[in-house]
Amino acid sequence: MNCAERLVALFGSQAEAARQLRLDRAVVSNWVKSGYVPARWATEVEALTSGQIAALEILNEATACKPLRLKSRPDGESLFGSPLTGKNTMNAYAPAKRITSFHPPQRTLMGPGPTEIHPRVLTTMSQPAIGYLDPVFVEMMEELKALLRYVYQTKNPLTFPISGPGSVGMEYCFVNLVAPGDKVIVCRNGVFGGRMIENVERCGGTAVVVEDKWGEPVDPQKLEDALKKNRDARVVAFVHAETSTGVQSDAQALVAIAHQYDALTIVDAVTSLGGTPVLVDEWKVDAIYSASQKCLSCTPGLSPVSFSERVVEYVKSRKDKIHSWFMDMNLLLGYWGATNRTYHHTAPTNALFALHEALLLINEEGLENSWARHRRHHTALKAGLEAMGLRFLVKPEHQLPQMNAVLCPEGVDEAKVRRTLLTEFNLEIGAGLGPLAGKIWRFGLLGYSCRPDNVMLCLSALGSVLEDMGYAVHVGDAEAAAHAAYAAMHAKAAQAKAKTRAKAAA
Ligand SMILES: Cc1ncc(COP(=O)(O)O)c(C=O)c1O
Repeated sequence: MNCAERLVALFGSQAEAARQLRLDRAVVSNWVKSGYVPARWATEVEALTSGQIAALEILNEATACKPLRLKSRPDGESLFGSPLTGKNTMNAYAPAKRITSFHPPQRTLMGPGPTEIHPRVLTTMSQPAIGYLDPVFVEMMEELKALLRYVYQTKNPLTFPISGPGSVGMEYCFVNLVAPGDKVIVCRNGVFGGRMIENVERCGGTAVVVEDKWGEPVDPQKLEDALKKNRDARVVAFVHAETSTGVQSDAQALVAIAHQYDALTIVDAVTSLGGTPVLVDEWKVDAIYSASQKCLSCTPGLSPVSFSERVVEYVKSRKDKIHSWFMDMNLLLGYWGATNRTYHHTAPTNALFALHEALLLINEEGLENSWARHRRHHTALKAGLEAMGLRFLVKPEHQLPQMNAVLCPEGVDEAKVRRTLLTEFNLEIGAGLGPLAGKIWRFGLLGYSCRPDNVMLCLSALGSVLEDMGYAVHVGDAEAAAHAAYAAMHAKAAQAKAKTRAKAAA
């Protein structure tokens, strides 16, 4: 039964379903005739049926039944009928095609982000807007800060989401911590370390670059050598989880070395937060930023940050004017700080509702369980990819579970594989960046996208595309290897549980 028929079955008749939704019966009758409930009614129907008909099911059905259609109009024909003249000439700017509502296709997202979004987060986001100083919203902000402290494992009072993507979080840290003339050590082992250098220079600082090969972690010894040579360096910056290569660096060791030389640390946790341990207090990180669209599985556009008291004191004591008004921490404290709530900018309220729900989901799952889930599905995906004969870019001990960079085999058209996966299987994977463009694929297992069904779909889709393109794979080997990996992990977990039970009984 489709959603329209289920709705009628739940309420016993079209008339009753229409009455509950305060609609004319003809509207519901039309839904039944056309075989779907229009997307704009998704949340109402979900609420009315107490979730028995999920908003996501309605959206998917509506998308499938009512695909986006672009109708051409002859050039010069007005959108509104007869040609307009005089004061209506603004219609010269009317689009050349008839535009209808946008319904994106349902994709499996296994690239470097954004990820798929949990239906609960989507539903929460589509709730009615409220003001950013509404007492109810202000109460929610406090919960949001508490949930962020949990995922960051910190007691830092100044932990909140910046309005802007991860790049804004990055810039926020540099603008506040780096004054003109400051020396900053930047560790670069991929794309995002390069962006940090740009930020230092744009703040008027001098970047001392510690280089490591793409695909290798930051070498703590090289950092120490650079600090010995540059004892006046005020800040050390590095990327914890390099999304461009899938490598993880030892953040705890790097922060400890920086502190030995009295430097503050800026840590990029865009891809690590929620997927692998990020322990801000235990590691004594000074400034850290992330992004909402990776392992937190929220919509893009928010950047959770956290700052130690030492950083807050430093920024408060800066004598020079921080050269970005929007990013000046002292001003934003008036909105996100401990006590005040005064206008700074119009906060993206609905996106913040969504982040609240996304963090709540992690809280309900348990942070350690989320880390374990990312490791479990990575193990299965890796077993499958390797059974297909593919090789990882990064050594096993430095591999990120949530970002799997795999070398494209010789003679295979890298871009064509991605294109075919997208068009034939609705599956998005990532390409290589910079010097790795055309050489690797990046398989993301981030947040809500990190699920066994995605692992299995990816392996069978990739296997069949590679086989079609003439690459020698035994179809089915990859899936069998992944199943065997899952089975081994289940067996191990069952043994551990039995041991615990036996201990408790003894
Ligand atoms: C490690 C890292 N840092 C920073 C960014 C920038 O984040 P955004 O694209 O949200 O601006 C990204 C984005 O992928 C990233 O992976």
